[in-house]
Amino acid sequence: MENDRYKQLLVAIEKERLAEEIYYSNIAKQKSDKEKIEAGILLASLVLNKKYYTVGEYVEVQLEKTKNFDKPNKFKVGAGVHLIHQGEETQHFRGTLSHKRKKEIGVIIQFDVISRDMLPDSGTYKLELVYDERPYKVMKSAVAEVIQSKDPYIVDLREGIRKKGKLDYSSQENPDQWKIPQYLNTDQTQAISGILKAGQMGIIHGPPGTGKTTTLAALTKTILQTENKILVCAPSNNAVDLLAQKISELGINVVRIGNVTRINEKVVALTLDEKARNHPDWSYIKEIRIEAEAARKMATTRKRKFGTNERRNRTDMYKESRELKKWARDMQKKLLSSIIGNCQVVATTLVGVSHSYMEGIKFETVIIDEASQCMEPECWNAILKAKRVIFAGDHHQLPPTVKSKEARELGLAHTLLDRMTDSIKHHYLLKTQYRMNDAILKFSNNKFYDGLLESALPNKNHTLKEDTAPIVFIDTSGCGYDENFDPKTRSLYNEGEYFILREHVLQNIEKYSNIEIGIICPYAEQVRYIRGKVLDDKELLSLNIEINSIDGFQGQEKDLIIITLTRSNEMGIIGFLSDYRRLNVAMTRAKKKLVIIGDGATLSSNELYLDLINHVEKEGLLQSAWEYMM
Ligand SMILES: Nc1ncnc2c1ncn2[C@@H]1O[C@H](COP(=O)(O)OP(=O)(O)OP(=O)(O)O)[C@@H](O)[C@H]1O
Ligand SMILES: [Mg+2]
Repeated sequence: MENDRYKQLLVAIEKERLAEEIYYSNIAKQKSDKEKIEAGILLASLVLNKKYYTVGEYVEVQLEKTKNFDKPNKFKVGAGVHLIHQGEETQHFRGTLSHKRKKEIGVIIQFDVISRDMLPDSGTYKLELVYDERPYKVMKSAVAEVIQSKDPYIVDLREGIRKKGKLDYSSQENPDQWKIPQYLNTDQTQAISGILKAGQMGIIHGPPGTGKTTTLAALTKTILQTENKILVCAPSNNAVDLLAQKISELGINVVRIGNVTRINEKVVALTLDEKARNHPDWSYIKEIRIEAEAARKMATTRKRKFGTNERRNRTDMYKESRELKKWARDMQKKLLSSIIGNCQVVATTLVGVSHSYMEGIKFETVIIDEASQCMEPECWNAILKAKRVIFAGDHHQLPPTVKSKEARELGLAHTLLDRMTDSIKHHYLLKTQYRMNDAILKFSNNKFYDGLLESALPNKNHTLKEDTAPIVFIDTSGCGYDENFDPKTRSLYNEGEYFILREHVLQNIEKYSNIEIGIICPYAEQVRYIRGKVLDDKELLSLNIEINSIDGFQGQEKDLIIITLTRSNEMGIIGFLSDYRRLNVAMTRAKKKLVIIGDGATLSSNELYLDLINHVEKEGLLQSAWEYMM
C-alpha cells in the first residue's frame, strides 16, 4: 500500500473535491435569494462603483452595498464568486473576491482579457459564493508531477518521504560563515545554523509563541546571504501575510502574490499589484491603454455615410487599438517580471504558487510556515519549485481541514510535519516562549507539552495595567443561555454568551482601551453573530477588536483574548471543541489576559474542559455569569 501512497493521495484529493462540490451545491439548491442572504452566501442590491484594469490585464470591479451592509456574511478574500448582473437579461461572470470593507466589495473577473465594457454601469448586481475547483486541480497536478518526476531532488524527497527515510544529506556549506541575527535565543540560533546545513528538508517545531515565525524570518535573511531569491509560503492568506510582514520588517524586499486578507497598509504595500501601481512605468502603461480605448471608440462610432475611406479608417483604428493594447500588455508583463525578478522573497499561499506570474521561476529553498495545517499535496505544489524545503509548525495546533471522511482515511489530513519530524536529521525544537503570561501558559504547557516550555523574562509576568487576573473563566451554567443552531449555515451561536462578553468588556472598558483585543469563536455562526452585533455597538466599536474563528487567529497574538465557547446544551455535547488542538490554539493567542466564557455544566462532560475549569479555579479567577447579570 505504501508504494501507492502518492496515487492514494490523488484519490483522496478527488474525494475531498467531491465533498466540497456537494456541500456547495446543497447550499445553493432550493434556496431563495432571501434565504441565501440570510445564510451569508449571497449579497444583493449591489451597484457598480468603479471598474478598471488591474495588474495582469484582469478587470476589477468595485461594488457598493446599498442594503444590508451590516449583515454578516461568509465572503472571504480569495473566495470564488459569481457576479450576476440583473438587467434586461441576466449575465454571469466568474471571479475572485479581492477585497472587502464594510460597504465595499472588490471582485477580479476571472478571464484573461475581458473588456470592461462588458460589465454594465447601471442596474444592480448580485454576488454569490461558489465552489472553487482550482485548489483541487492544483493539488492533483502537483502530485501527478511528483509521481512522474525524474528530477533527482524531487525523486530523493519523494522516496525519502515514502520510506520515512533519514533524508540526512547535508550541504557542504559552513554555517560559521553566515551572519545570524543577534536578537535570537540559543535554540533559535542553533535551529538556524543547523537548517543551513540541511540538504533536502529541515523542520523547526515548537509550541506557540516560541518564535517559529520569527526564526523563519531570520532564517530567510540569513539564507539570502548566499541565495538570490527565496519562496516563502503558508497554507492560508492570513498566515502568509504575517510571515511576509515579519520578513519585510527586516529590510528585505518581499513581493506578496495573491490576495491579502489584512487591511494593513504594510502588507498591502508588499503586493505585486501595489508595487506595479507605484512603479513609474505604470502611468505610461495606463496612458497607452487610454489611447487604445480611444482608438477603439473611434472605430465603433457610427457614421452616417460609410464609403471606402471610412471603412479604411475604421480598419486602421481597430488595428491601432489592438496594437496599442498588445504593447501595453507586453510592457506590463515586463514590468511584473522585473518586480518579481528584483525581489528577494516571493510570499504566497501554497496553492498560490501556481499563479501564472510564477511560471518558470525556480528557487533553491522554499520555506513553509504553519506546516501542521498543510495538506501534503499543497506542500508538494511549493516543494516542486525548489531543491529543499524548510517547515515550521507545531503538532499540537490545528490540523488541515478535510471535509471528506474517506479522504481523511486515505491520509489527506496527515501532514508532512507529523510524518517526517522524527525521521529526518535536521529538526529543531524551540522551547522558550515570549508571548504569554505564565498563568495563561501553564494549562497548555502541562497538558499538551509535558511542562517542557519555559517563559522568557520579562514576558513571563506581563499583565494589563492594574490587572490581577491574567486568566478568567466566566461560567454561564444555570443561566439558561442555550446554544442556537442555525439550520442554514449548520453552525451554532449563543446570544447569552455574547451578552456576558459585552457586559464584561463594558465593566473593564478603561482597562481594555488602547490594547489589542481578539474575540475568538470556535463556531462560524458565532463569529457572524458577534461581528454583526459589534458593528451596531458604539462602545465596543471604539475599541481595537478583531473577531474571528480559531483558524483565523492561528499564528497571531493579542494583548487580551476573549473566547466564547458557545456550546450549551443539556446533553453535554461539545462537538469539535473536544479536539484539544482547537482549545490549545485559542488559549495561546493571549499575551496578557485570557477570558473564557462557557457553560461549565455542558463542558465538564469532557475531561479536558473539566481540568481547564479546575485549573482556573486554582490558578486564576473563576466567576459565575450571574455576577454580570445583577
Ligand atoms: N528571541 C526573541 N526575543 C524576543 N522576542 C521574541 C523572540 N522570538 C520571538 N519573540 C516574540 O515572541 C512572540 C511570538 O513569536 P512568533 O509569533 O514568531 O511565535 P510562533 O512560534 O510562530 O507562534 P505560533 O505557534 O502562535 O505561530 C512575538 O511577539 C515575537 O516577536
Ligand atoms: Mg507562527
